Formats: sequence, C-alpha cells, structure tokens
Amino acid sequence: MVIQENYPLKNLNTFGINAEARYFIALSSIDEIQEIIAENIFKNNKKLILGGGSNLLFCKNFDGIILKNNLKGIKSIKEDADYYYIKAGAGEVWHDLVMHCINNNYGGVENLSLIPGNVGASPMQNIGAYGVEIKDCFYELDAINIADNTIHTFNKASCKFGYRESVFKQELKNQFIIISVTYKLLKTPIFNTQYGAIEKELEEMGVKELSIKSISKAVCNIRSSKLPNPKEIGNAGSFFKNPEISRNKYEILKNKFPSIVGYDLENGNVKLAAAWLIEQCGWKGKTFGDAGVHKLQALVLVNYGNAIGKEIYDLSQKILESVFTKYEIILEREVNII
Ligand code: FAD
Ligand code: EPU
Repeated sequence: MVIQENYPLKNLNTFGINAEARYFIALSSIDEIQEIIAENIFKNNKKLILGGGSNLLFCKNFDGIILKNNLKGIKSIKEDADYYYIKAGAGEVWHDLVMHCINNNYGGVENLSLIPGNVGASPMQNIGAYGVEIKDCFYELDAINIADNTIHTFNKASCKFGYRESVFKQELKNQFIIISVTYKLLKTPIFNTQYGAIEKELEEMGVKELSIKSISKAVCNIRSSKLPNPKEIGNAGSFFKNPEISRNKYEILKNKFPSIVGYDLENGNVKLAAAWLIEQCGWKGKTFGDAGVHKLQALVLVNYGNAIGKEIYDLSQKILESVFTKYEIILEREVNII
C-alpha cells in the first residue's frame, strides 16, 4: 500500500480541475481498504472516496486523504425464474457493466448506457436517465462502515432512494465505502421507450425489431449529440437537479411563462426542466474565461481548459440567483462540491 502525497487530481475528475490531494491511495481489494481504515493517517484526516470523478467539483485542494476505489469483478451470483443477480465491484466502469448486461441479454440497465463513472457511485445519487433509475434494478450493496471497519449489506429500502438521492448523500454521508453492488436484471427484458427522443432515434436508426442493444445504441446516440464528452470539454453532467414544485405554483408560472417545461409527477407535483429556466435567464452558451454554460445543454457547466473550481462554483451561484430572481425557484446543485 503506497500513500502518495500532494497527488494531482486533474486527470481524476471529469471537470478537469487542477487540484491536489494531501494524501492519495488507490486500492483494489477489500482487505486493503480495511487495512487503511485501521491506520492513523486515515483516522486522523478528512476522507473522500473517489470513483470516476464525474459528479464532483474540487473548489480547492483536498486537505485530507482520497481513497480511489478500484475494486473490480462482475459475476452472476444467483438466478430465479425472472431475474439474474449480477454483482459488480465498486471500481468497475458503469458503462462496461451496462455492455456486459447487453451482451448477455440481461434487461434493465440499457437506458442508463453511457453514464460516466463507476458502479460504486451508481446508488449514491440513484443515477437516472431516459425514464429509468438505478433503483428500478437495484438488489443490494455491500459497504464498509468507516467507524468500525465492518461490512454491511443494504437492501433497496435501506438505501432510501429518491430522485438523485440516497441515504448515502443524507444521514449516512461520508460514513460508508461502497465495495460492491448487486443488480437484479430481467431474463425477459421489458423495453422502455417512453422517452419520446428514444422512439424518434430508433426510427431514424431504422430499427424494426426492438432489443436492449438497439435501445442502448439509441440512448448513446442521443447522449452524444447533446452532452459534452468530458474527454473534450470538462464537465460533470447536469450541474443542478430539476426542481419539483406544487401544481399550484406551476399553474401560476405557466400563466406568466406559457412555454415553461414541466413534467407531471405521480404525487401531483410538477418537475421543471432546470435547463429551460437557465436558458431563459440568458446563460446558455455564455463563457467567463474558461468557465461556461454549454451551448447545447444549459444545465451543464463546463471547463474549457484551465478554469478553477471556484470559477465554476461562482458561475453556478450567479445562475442560481438569477433563476430565483426571475422564477422564485431555488435550484439545488446535483454535483458534489468538494
Ligand atoms: P464520483 O464523482 O467519483 O463520486 C461521486 C460521489 O460519490 C462522491 O461524493 C464520492 O465520494 C461518492 N462515491 C463514489 N464512489 C463511492 C464509493 N465506492 N463508496 C462511497 N462513496 C462513493 N448522472 C446521472 O444520474 N444521469 C445522467 O444521465 C448523467 N449523465 C452524465 C453525463 C456526463 C457527461 C457526466 C460527466 C456526468 C453525468 N452524470 C449523470 C453524473 C455522474 O456520471 C454520476 O453521478 C456517476 O454515478 C458518478 O460516478 P463516479 O464514479 O464518477 O462518482
Ligand atoms: N431544455 C432547454 N434548454 C436546454 C436543454 C434542455 O430548454 O439547453 C429543455 C427542453 O425542453 C428539454 C428539457 O429541457 O426537453 C429536458 O432536457 P433533457 O432531455 O436534455 O434533460 P434534462 O432534464 O436537462 C435530465 C437529467 C440528465 C439525464 C437526462 C435524460 C437531471 C438533473 N438531469 O436532464 O442527467 O441524462 O434528463 O434523462 O435530472 C445528470 O444527472 O448529470 C444528467 C445528465
């Protein structure tokens, strides 16, 4: 086990922010993780568990220890009449797991194709896209309790999943290291093409017979057409969550701003497209030095090269304030601010 000091993080976060970790260690076995937890250097420092670095913004150097979770392995652990149960190490790349499922015709994660990051972070914010969230195919996860170095299993209920939320972002924040996640995947896939854009893309692709492979391809095509590739332009996907408001408030806004974009929720509330609110405030495509708002997707803040985290954060603050001034809606950041 080698603990490195003043470790550069630029290549370990998709925003491409040039920050450093006071201490850094990459670990690829559960034993190694439990060993480091027992060390004084771990006990006495602030800690951050790092996956693919695609949902965080370093606003300054990290004055503590970063543990990069590289636990690998994908295996089928059991099956029943309807499902395969696939267990993956937290350090597996999420899209590799999706491809593994597609190649084996395990249904359920195809709509979540091409989301950056690793398996271990997928339950953190209950990743979601194109009508599906990870909670829909989640079975259980194993995580180490940092306080007493013991392994716990969390089932779906105990993860308290919500829209871009879980218990690990709330009451158990920074308390557990997720080591593996088990997904429950359909033996007979159910195709989910409710998102209009998927139907349209499948049509343009000339798909006659639906499959999870074609849906995955359609999702990849749509995503690539509007989301910036972090290898080319630094970003962490949607910077804010889409806000949920009451139907009453929505009707008032709709009267004033007839083209406002909102989706009905089962609980009677309405989810607004934050991208619309931000675009209407005039931010889309704006740049401030190397920090900016993407020209195709107003919800995505970008680093065109050498922006520092604070510049991106300050821009997000200005966006937040202008959306509040115009619509009296408080946007909530989705990206983890470090
Ligand atoms: P990191 O950024 O490394 O970590 C995120 C958080 O999880 C941090 O707080 C970290 O401490 C914690 N964490 C990570 N691993 C562990 C672990 N093993 N144990 C405990 N804590 C851990 N998200 C969506 O939901 N839907 C999308 O459609 C989507 N599209 C995106 C598109 C782009 C271009 C980008 C750049 C990002 C997008 N995201 C999306 C956000 C991001 O991909 C997800 O949040 C992803 O799950 C983050 O994974 P990661 O491994 O990079 O996590
Ligand atoms: N829109 C605008 N301006 C824009 C972009 C979009 O007005 O610049 C409006 C359009 O009306 C569009 C609507 O906003 O129809 C929704 O846009 P989009 O379909 O691109 O989705 P989103 O709400 O911006 C969410 C997720 C994404 C996920 C997509 C697809 C959140 C915060 N974001 O984005 O997740 O990939 O839906 O399901 O829920 C992420 O979490 O990082 C992420 C990228």
